[in-house]
Amino acid sequence: MRKVLVQTYGCQMNKLDSALISAALEQAGFRLTDNTDEADVVLLNTCSVRQHAEDRVLSHLGHLKHLKKNRPDIVVGVIGCMAQRLGDKLLQHQAVNLVCGPAQIPHIVDLVNEAVEKTQKNLDIADNIRQRDLENDTALEQFESAHSSDDRQIPSQAFVRVMRGCDKFCTYCVVPYVRGPEHCRPPEAIIEQIKKLADQRIKQVTLLGQTVNSYKYKAGDRTYYLSDLLHTASGIGGIEWIKFVTSYPIEDHFDEILRVMAYSPKVCKYLHIPAQSGSDKILRAMNRSYTAVQYLDLLDRARAIVPDIAIAGDFIVGFPGETEEDFQLTIVLLKKAQYKNAFIFKYSPRPGTTADKRLEDNVPSDVKQKRNIELLAVQNQISSQMNQSFLGRKVQVLVEGLSKKPHLDSAGSDDNLQLVGRTATDHIVVFNGPQSLVGRFANVIITKTSSLTLFGRLAT
Ligand code: SAH
Ligand code: SF4
Ligand code: F3S
Repeated sequence: MRKVLVQTYGCQMNKLDSALISAALEQAGFRLTDNTDEADVVLLNTCSVRQHAEDRVLSHLGHLKHLKKNRPDIVVGVIGCMAQRLGDKLLQHQAVNLVCGPAQIPHIVDLVNEAVEKTQKNLDIADNIRQRDLENDTALEQFESAHSSDDRQIPSQAFVRVMRGCDKFCTYCVVPYVRGPEHCRPPEAIIEQIKKLADQRIKQVTLLGQTVNSYKYKAGDRTYYLSDLLHTASGIGGIEWIKFVTSYPIEDHFDEILRVMAYSPKVCKYLHIPAQSGSDKILRAMNRSYTAVQYLDLLDRARAIVPDIAIAGDFIVGFPGETEEDFQLTIVLLKKAQYKNAFIFKYSPRPGTTADKRLEDNVPSDVKQKRNIELLAVQNQISSQMNQSFLGRKVQVLVEGLSKKPHLDSAGSDDNLQLVGRTATDHIVVFNGPQSLVGRFANVIITKTSSLTLFGRLAT
């Protein structure tokens, strides 16, 4: 039996694709492994969103090239967004045997088998990624339904795609060029899939879309929105928590989504809604279709409809033309937004995007670095302060697994390991408890907090 190692870089879309691919390969008789030493096939599921993400993969390929000197039979495949972006260039890399784009994953078993049996290299990506290919959509739909399973890293949780691709064309972003046009999956297929996952004892589903709140599907004279999916999914027995990422600021029907969140105990009170910048000038240059004021109004509305909602954001610092004044406006917005946490990225020019073609990457890297650190420091202070309100409170968490870093005074016995879980509001909680809790809900009393993590003890 051949063994496959699937390694994932990038966002939840890629994690979901990796889970689907892993299930398909297993069904075809492969065995999965975490260990490169025993793998016959290594598949890297890659991300192109920033140069750094691509560099990590290239460095890993360098390592695999070295490994292949002693083990020439090992098959190396590059799949995912970088495969679609770089195609043939990757195939020419000495380590690489096969390249498969995100839209070609239904072919993965055949591609791997061919690569194992032949010495020939294989390339399978979309020729024109921005063109809808109905036949391929059907294949993807079937692949998705057939191989949907748990997330493979975290028991009891699964991702469910509700849309593919993106049509927003934010000027900095590579996603529309590697994931293709926006396309919403039929609501029946999504609901059916969630029911199947509930039968497999999945407790939490996360609905995925690049702009998940723009989900819209017309069937006859009815139009279905994300709020309809959330409402229907809430009725599925066994599913306890429903999350959705990522939301785009300013969409029609946002209030309906918030209202379902307010009334359905299963829809988690958590919104990941990137602002990217607090400067209207920069937002315009990014082709984000809102102003800072509109964005903050939306957060106010969200908090009015769902009072205890937790909100997370993303920012890009050092976008072309970002002055110190623009950056200060970002700090002002970040302070007003009161995020539970924020992801901050340094602008990375992506070949083929409008920003890269038309705007000079003119913020020096040391300035990007300084702004990144400064914004993060402001956010850390806000997060620390907000987290303190958890002290002494009892929170419910879905336990994800063993904590990677030892945080507490671990008692060290097998039935008292250090576990990590997340609340419905996406807060990370570390506590001691038995391994049997992994994949289950637990109540934890918070005894200590930091900017990123809550610590506590199991409630008795
Ligand atoms: N679809 C999501 C995000 C996709 S990419 C959305 O629209 O919100 C995840 C994050 O990466 C983005 O929110 C953005 O903050 C960041 N990002 C995207 N392209 C980038 C680039 N070229 N350089 C730096 N950060 C980038
Ligand atoms: Fe990229 Fe913008 Fe689409 Fe998000 S909405 S995936 S940032 S183009
Ligand atoms: Fe990266 Fe592709 Fe996701 S570029 S962020 S893995 S959609």
